[in-house]
Amino acid sequence: MFLSAAVRSAVSQTARQVRGLHQSATRSAGGLFVHRDTPDNNPDTPFEFTEENKKRVQAILSQYPEGHKQAATIPVLDLAQRQHGWLPISAMNKVAEVLGVAPMRVYEVATFYTMFLRQPVGKYFIQVCTTTPCMLCNSDSILEAIQNKLGIKVGETTPDKMFTLIEVECLGACVNAPMVQINDNYYEDLTPKDIEVIIDELKAGRVPPPGPRNGRFSCEPVGGLTSLKGPPPGPGFGVRSDL
Ligand code: FES
Repeated sequence: MFLSAAVRSAVSQTARQVRGLHQSATRSAGGLFVHRDTPDNNPDTPFEFTEENKKRVQAILSQYPEGHKQAATIPVLDLAQRQHGWLPISAMNKVAEVLGVAPMRVYEVATFYTMFLRQPVGKYFIQVCTTTPCMLCNSDSILEAIQNKLGIKVGETTPDKMFTLIEVECLGACVNAPMVQINDNYYEDLTPKDIEVIIDELKAGRVPPPGPRNGRFSCEPVGGLTSLKGPPPGPGFGVRSDL
């Protein structure tokens, strides 16, 4: 049986996309949902909020009514992670202590959201979105370029502890697909070449400006505006004069 080049290309693309579906990040940011004590992650792992962050914790808690401190779980966990780089169980226990809740209430949150890292990660934490809109814009090629460039697979960290790579679900920037998040920055409208340049910049100690790489502003149409191109006509526009 002979297949046209177009059909062969489509079959090949589909095969790669099936890989994406079946191999999405089982080893994601949080790793397993259960905790196992290790030498560097156990209840005795040193963690205490810095004096500055203790003030931040109080500022966060002051935003919630008395008796509802639990509502501050996510921002206080985020603060703990930004201080420590990731969340050992001792940090989660400390968060439970300052919120006055059972540690399990904090574990439930930290294990649900992939933004909470329960294992150490590299200095640059690369999250590649491979959900449908990004997949259709060939996020596989971005993932492949990163793996080739860094010599690591999904879930791994480079030996110099500079980069950790994971695959994630939609990061909410689908209109700028394909995209990746590196630490707090979104890099969008990527080609494999773009991501290689971004990694080179990071290796050189420079953080490239986030946003689209194809020249458009934010998520405006690639070919320029198609509506709202003139000044607004004002409140009287369209009102019938005979009424
Ligand atoms: S599918 Fe990738 S950002 Fe939404």
